[in-house]
Amino acid sequence: MNRVFTITTPIYYVNGLPHIGHSYTTIAADCLARHKRRRGYDVVFLTGTDEHGQKVLKAAEEKGLTPQAFVDGIIPRFKELWRRLDITNDDFIRTTEPRHAEAVGYFLSELYKKGDLYLGSYKGLYCVPCEVFWTEKQAVGGQCPDCRRPVEKIVESNYFFKMSAYQAWLLDYIKTHPGFILPDSRQNEVLSFLEENQLGDLCVSRPKTRLSWGIPLPFSPDHVTYVWFDALINYVSALGYPGHRERFDEFWPEAIHLIGKDILRQHAVFWPIMLHAMGLNPPKRIFAHGWWQVGEEKMSKSRGNVVNPLDVIDEFGIDVYRYFLLREVPFGLDGVFSREAIVQRFNGDLANDLGNLVYRTLTMAEKYFDGRIPVLNKATLDPAARQNILPKIDGLAARVDAALDGQDFIAALEAIWELIAACNKHIEVTKPWNLKKENRTSELENFIAVLAAAIRLAGEEVGPFMPATSQKINAQIGADRVAKGDPLFPRIIEEKKQ
Ligand code: MSP
Repeated sequence: MNRVFTITTPIYYVNGLPHIGHSYTTIAADCLARHKRRRGYDVVFLTGTDEHGQKVLKAAEEKGLTPQAFVDGIIPRFKELWRRLDITNDDFIRTTEPRHAEAVGYFLSELYKKGDLYLGSYKGLYCVPCEVFWTEKQAVGGQCPDCRRPVEKIVESNYFFKMSAYQAWLLDYIKTHPGFILPDSRQNEVLSFLEENQLGDLCVSRPKTRLSWGIPLPFSPDHVTYVWFDALINYVSALGYPGHRERFDEFWPEAIHLIGKDILRQHAVFWPIMLHAMGLNPPKRIFAHGWWQVGEEKMSKSRGNVVNPLDVIDEFGIDVYRYFLLREVPFGLDGVFSREAIVQRFNGDLANDLGNLVYRTLTMAEKYFDGRIPVLNKATLDPAARQNILPKIDGLAARVDAALDGQDFIAALEAIWELIAACNKHIEVTKPWNLKKENRTSELENFIAVLAAAIRLAGEEVGPFMPATSQKINAQIGADRVAKGDPLFPRIIEEKKQ
């Protein structure tokens, strides 16, 4: 049987242009997808856009466009960014596509038939920008607890999903499936939420009179679907549900959702219950990462302190940007984005450690062997290399696998960098120029050969993080003759500010 892997990003709201927050999840997903493909898995990597709802409608109105024309204008910007960032998504689902609307209609019809949806009257406090209803207790001072803007009192007739009926099932499911919600701190957050609160039923419709931009309810001409109920279904509609059951059944059990911590409740409470009510299993895992902030502030479109990923890659390159995001902050924790931090990572990890190792090794191969990479003879390898480098070569793939299976990007990179550090140290300790002087040719051959083997492997394993760098390393040292180019990461020398 084929080994399969399914990885998803949230589908992004298209009320503005993509920023580093969006690119973070997408790069993380891309790294995992590339890693699994290299290991021979059949991968489906999904991303897309969330195009309905009030937020998008409002943004369209501000531009004087119909919502469809507005979203059609923004989508190319997302696709272009993913192309620029070397993202290898296998599909791009838009919630305005018929294949998605069909799946949403199917969910609604089935749940309605089953008696899991009912018509009720909704009185609530609603935050328009966040599109979330809040209770009196949550909306302290009449403010949205998320964005702090005023909430509006709303009374309307709507359809409700009997979410409350499934609370006990969900609690039990989470408790009996460790690793379903990661990191553990997020799992515990969801568990205490479920233990301390009585779940209400989920309002899944909006009256057309208030909001017409959405997927129609199959059984009510007066309503459209609530944007979150619509959006979550993208994960299954993109896999072909309900029409292409075979593909869906193959890939769904392995699905991992990467999301930001701000949308944990929708993914870890609403979504598993929706699936369960439909007779489907929850995804394999939901991993909620932290937030990037700029200085002291959370970065968001509404705060206007958004960093444009294209500016960063214009200055540092795609690979450096990808490396920085995944290396700087543990996936799951919050981080601070700054130019200085990128320069530090660049000069340290990339220029001094990796770039330098490759450059020195290529230079030595040219100088001592006319560019030939000698063949490694493990039997005669110097004991220091045998002890300090060989085990790191042999164990690297398994360490990277284990780290990435837990979405621990830093642990995977640390494993690679331990090998790099061991090689750099080995060069300093061995002093190859002495071997040359003393005509110890076979030792010198083995010395270069073991470094080349380590670099090739490090270059392979770093590929999911830095695809272009991996290719460059392979082009320079992948064959039995070196092809030295420019240094991979020439040090950045910052001019002192006056
Ligand atoms: N459309 C919904 C998701 C529906 S998924 C069925 C949505 N879209 S969003 O565009 O607002 O946000 C998408 C993702 O970007 C979220 O996971 C969010 O956490 C992430 N980020 C937005 N700003 C961020 C940072 N500053 N830092 C890290 N990630 C952040 O929510």
